[in-house]
Amino acid sequence: MSKSKSIKQIAIYGKGGIGKSTTTSNLSAALSKMGFRVMQFGCDPKSDSTNTLRGGVYIPTVLDTLREKVSVDAHDVIYPGFNGVYCVEAGGPAPGVGCAGRGIITAVELLRQQHIFEELDLDYVIYDVLGDVVCGGFAVPIREGIAKHVFTVSSSDFMSLYAANNLFRGIQKYSKSGGALLGGVIANSINAGYSREIINDFVARTQTKVVEYIPRSITVTQCELKGRTVIEAAPDSQQAKVYVALAEKIAAHEQSEIPTPLGVTELQEWATSWSDKLLLQAESQVEIGEAI
Ligand SMILES: Nc1ncnc2c1ncn2[C@@H]1O[C@H](COP(=O)(O)OP(=O)(O)O)[C@@H](O)[C@H]1O
Ligand SMILES: [Mg+2]
Repeated sequence: MSKSKSIKQIAIYGKGGIGKSTTTSNLSAALSKMGFRVMQFGCDPKSDSTNTLRGGVYIPTVLDTLREKVSVDAHDVIYPGFNGVYCVEAGGPAPGVGCAGRGIITAVELLRQQHIFEELDLDYVIYDVLGDVVCGGFAVPIREGIAKHVFTVSSSDFMSLYAANNLFRGIQKYSKSGGALLGGVIANSINAGYSREIINDFVARTQTKVVEYIPRSITVTQCELKGRTVIEAAPDSQQAKVYVALAEKIAAHEQSEIPTPLGVTELQEWATSWSDKLLLQAESQVEIGEAI
C-alpha cells in the first residue's frame, strides 16, 4: 500500500471570484486525465470548490461533519468526483465565530491522522484557498508546511494583483521558517492585449513568472451552467487545451521561488503609471478612429 513516492501538495490562492475554483477544478480534471491520482481540497468557506467535479452538487464539509459527530472516519468526508478525483471541502466556521485558518488545519489534520493521502496513493493534493483577506488563517497552508508550492490565480485587475502582491508578502515572510514557495501566477481572464502586458509587467517587477494565460471564455460559463468542468463537458474545445497545457506545466514544475513583493506605495505608483499608459493608448486609438 504505502509506496515511498512523494505527494505533490499545491495551494492555489487568489482574490474571491477571480477563478480559483474554476481553474483548480479544470486542473484537477486534466491531471486525472493524465493518469495522476488527485485530491482537490476546498479551503474557501464558500465550500463550492469541487462543485463542477461533481455535476454541480455540493458536498457536506469536514467542519460540518465534525460538528455533527464525535468521531469521524475520514473516508466519510471524501467524495468521488469526475474521473476519480477525490473531493473534500474543509468548510468554514459559523459566520462571525472562529477562524477559517483553524478550520483548514482541523480538516487537514483529520485526513493526515488517518493516513488518507498515503492510503489513496495520491500524486497531487490541490488546496483551493481564498486569498484576499488579510488574516493569518488563510496563510495556514503556506505557513504550516501543508503545501509546498503556491500558485496564484490573478487577472490584470488592480484588486486581483493587489491580493497577489499580499500573498507574495506572506510567502516571503514565512519562507524564512520553511513555508511554501511560489510556483508562479496563473493569469486568468486574459483577452485584451493590454491585460497581458499589465500582468507581464507585474510578474517582472515581482520577479515571478506567468505559468499560463487563460482566456475569458464563454465555454467556461456554459460548462459551469451544466455543473461540469471544461475538461469533462467540452474536452475538444480550445479552452480545454489551455487547461491541459496548464496541467502539463504544473506536472513538470519542480522549483518554486521566493517572490519580491512591491511595497504599498510602489504598487500604487506602478498602478498609476499603467493608468497613464492606458489613457494614452485609448487616446491614440480615438485619433486613429477620427482620421478614418
Ligand atoms: N476563464 C474564465 N472564463 C469565463 N468565466 C470564468 C473564467 N474563470 C472564472 N470564470 C467565472 O468566474 C466566476 C467565479 O469563478 P470561481 O472559480 O468560482 O472564483 P473563485 O473560486 O476565485 O471565487 C464563475 O462564474 C466562473 O465561471
Ligand atoms: Mg472558489
